[in-house]
Amino acid sequence: MLRRLLLQASTDRRRRLFAPHSSSLFRLRSSSSSSTSHSQIETSTSVEHLEDSNQSPQPSSSISVDRSGLYNPPEHSHGPSSDSELVKHLKGIIKFRGGPISVAEYMEEVLTNPKAGFYINRDVFGAEGDFITSPEVSQMFGEMIGVWAMSLWEQMGRPNRVNLVELGPGRGTLMADLLRGASKFKNFTESLNVHMVECSPTLQKLQYGHLKCIDEDSSDVSVEKRTISTLSRTPVSWHATLEQVPAGLPTIIIAHEFFDALPVHQFQRASRGWCEKMIDVAEDSSFNFVLSPRPMPATLFLMKRCKWAAAEELAKVGQIEVCPKAMELTQTIANRISSDGGGALIIDYGLNGLVSDSLQAIRKHKFVDILDNPGTADLSAYVDFASIRHSAEEVSEDVSVHGPITQSQFLGSLGINFRFEALLENCKTDEQEESLMTGYWQLVGEGEAQFWEGPEEKTPIGMGTRYLAMAIVNKKQGIPVPFQ
Ligand SMILES: C[S@@+](CC[C@H](N)C(=O)[O-])C[C@H]1O[C@@H](n2cnc3c(N)ncnc32)[C@H](O)[C@@H]1O
Repeated sequence: MLRRLLLQASTDRRRRLFAPHSSSLFRLRSSSSSSTSHSQIETSTSVEHLEDSNQSPQPSSSISVDRSGLYNPPEHSHGPSSDSELVKHLKGIIKFRGGPISVAEYMEEVLTNPKAGFYINRDVFGAEGDFITSPEVSQMFGEMIGVWAMSLWEQMGRPNRVNLVELGPGRGTLMADLLRGASKFKNFTESLNVHMVECSPTLQKLQYGHLKCIDEDSSDVSVEKRTISTLSRTPVSWHATLEQVPAGLPTIIIAHEFFDALPVHQFQRASRGWCEKMIDVAEDSSFNFVLSPRPMPATLFLMKRCKWAAAEELAKVGQIEVCPKAMELTQTIANRISSDGGGALIIDYGLNGLVSDSLQAIRKHKFVDILDNPGTADLSAYVDFASIRHSAEEVSEDVSVHGPITQSQFLGSLGINFRFEALLENCKTDEQEESLMTGYWQLVGEGEAQFWEGPEEKTPIGMGTRYLAMAIVNKKQGIPVPFQ
């Protein structure tokens, strides 16, 4: 339906936009070595913020791959001969513990080690970074999340004070577009206290800038200084964990591509039963995978996850990924929503069932080996939405879980096509139109863009069905839009 709408939109203009000389540089790579999809977007075009009228948007292009697990054969770097600080640290843990570490411990260190973790000291997004995410593709993404948050706020009875929490806000682009888009709805924005849950000091600074924050001066020393986003005159604060966000107010939580960064344990079926995949140091001093000889503590989470699966589902898999941190975080979310009211929206790539072997590493828009030069590539895994549902339902009877539905259904039902058409009318150059339309396709499209008239290897690929949306809400609010 969305694709039809896109196809209906100004055919002539589209012919101009997607002509072979187009500057929109998508690249499709494929491989036939696995039964899973091997498509890979290598390029996307992002559009700078477009206003409804009277402003000249400044489009920009970026070469990017999303992180939705496309199983491309990893490239190996024959890279640095001397160990980095993080590699030394990981080897130190393995040495002093006297044995291998779990994939989860490795993943956590690689991503969030306070000194050298992948996210800690750099901006990893966009053409200059390692991968692209939906908020970076188009402003429409954050704006639609704003529509969702505002609808939930309406369902909550328009409370005059609300915590709006974003988990893992990256550059802060989603929140900036949300606040900018909602700024005309003063009752809503005036109710908000924005809380950014972010472990990276570098990204916290970027978020501060993108939200156009200022530190309010107060001559009264007894009054605590506040940071305000000038996009909507909304107070903003930063925290390392969700637990640190003050409780007691109705809460709206957004988690976009956050759960996929949480560490997973990997299990493999062997003749002696399920064994945990571990990481050790080989004789040549490189990292390698080994299987645990005996049950490890995370086996408890495996057993729990297996109980939630049907026998036929279990029989089909030889490997299982389990994410205890996702289970615990879901329970924290469900408890918070249960006691304070509100809801959470989780959007990520994943499955509504057992995840088998999805952990992947991406560096500079290329899939690389998971063990290759840790700390220099992003690690992410498919999100197990069924496990999120069970974790939430297990902890509280006061919450209900909705979805997952596809990103395309989610954004489509919230009216992204109307926003797209309004923005299209305000584009002043072909480049802006092209950028907007390719961004729209990337968000809601499925597979290869049918409108594409450029070189085949540059066909844009949509994330519309590979990304899923799920909501957890306090039952008092009823069913959230657009999950009815
Ligand atoms: C894949 S990025 C997604 C960024 C953003 N949501 C987007 O879609 O562009 C993951 C984000 O979560 C943050 N992050 C990862 N693990 C975290 C943790 N354990 N605690 C807090 N933040 C974390 C990263 O620093 C980053 O901002």
